[in-house]
Amino acid sequence: MREAPKSADLLDWYDRHARVLPWRIGPADRARGTRPDPYRVWLSEIMLQQTTVAAVKSYFETFTTRWPRVEALAAAEDGDVMAAWAGLGYYARARNLLKCARVVASDHDGRFPDTAEALRALPGIGPYTAAAIASIAFDRAETVVDGNVERVMARVFDEHTPLPQAKPVLTGYAARMTPEARPGDYAQAVMDLGATICTPNNPACGLCPWRPACGAWAAGTAAVLPRKSPRKSKPTRLGIAYLARRVDGAWLLERRPDKGLLGGMLGWPGSDWGDAPEEAPPIRAEWKTVDGEARHTFTHFHLRLTVRTALVPMDRQPWRGEFMELPDFRPADLPTVMRKAFDLAQGGRGPASTR
Ligand code: ADE
Repeated sequence: MREAPKSADLLDWYDRHARVLPWRIGPADRARGTRPDPYRVWLSEIMLQQTTVAAVKSYFETFTTRWPRVEALAAAEDGDVMAAWAGLGYYARARNLLKCARVVASDHDGRFPDTAEALRALPGIGPYTAAAIASIAFDRAETVVDGNVERVMARVFDEHTPLPQAKPVLTGYAARMTPEARPGDYAQAVMDLGATICTPNNPACGLCPWRPACGAWAAGTAAVLPRKSPRKSKPTRLGIAYLARRVDGAWLLERRPDKGLLGGMLGWPGSDWGDAPEEAPPIRAEWKTVDGEARHTFTHFHLRLTVRTALVPMDRQPWRGEFMELPDFRPADLPTVMRKAFDLAQGGRGPASTR
């Protein structure tokens, strides 16, 4: 008879092997019962949605150095925050981040609420993020389920129902496993187990503290779990981006509307994106087409952008957008797809400057 998985075994493992991450506190502080700063926990959880720890680290450092407290972030200019977020993707997160910081600063005296329910009332905080903050920052016994946790639960309980249908079942297992003691450490321990041992490919079962209790280990099924329903294939859309440079070196840019894809971000004026994009030049010019395409994949479609460039005289007025001079315009402030178009126009020389 296999033993039941115990959260205490995972916590023992976590005490020895927790990843050192900039939003966490060290083992000595943990042992003393110190809690991590809710502002840093919130910021990290928003950044980590749909994004890897490796990609988030440098952004987290930049944000917390520049805006060390929620009041500082609340007082920031929208454009500065959007620029600092450029490259992380899913830009609605950055707009909601600012909204949330402002609500916490103005309505909650700069202190994050300490229950999942109250956290959920804040902009940009859904069930996952509310549970993660309540558990990690306030040690509440909330069930935190992300992709790592789903994979670990599917394997430990040898659950073969495919995702996404399996979500409620896996959430049930995760809830059953969540302990009353140290739930915040436990939540992070499952995430770490999923990220470092119980990985999607080649899991390191030999090092796993839950191996004696693992259903997939006993059945030899770890490699095929979690099962997934086939995904719909993504369509490809086409578009045209217009990169106009004035003779003084200023570039013609446009701030995208707040709602929708890349909302609130700076970008190149362009056509709609679809099957057969229509020309939509933002200024009268002799446009040249750059060889190649800027390609980018969004959540629901692939995009192939044709890039046209032009040099325009000082007195020419655009129909759309505004000329921005260096240093107000920094290529690093562009979202990735717009950056790719810029790099292509620069002759495919790769990022023209790094942040
Ligand atoms: N992924 C999402 N939240 C995380 C956290 N707090 N630690 C590690 N990985 C995470």
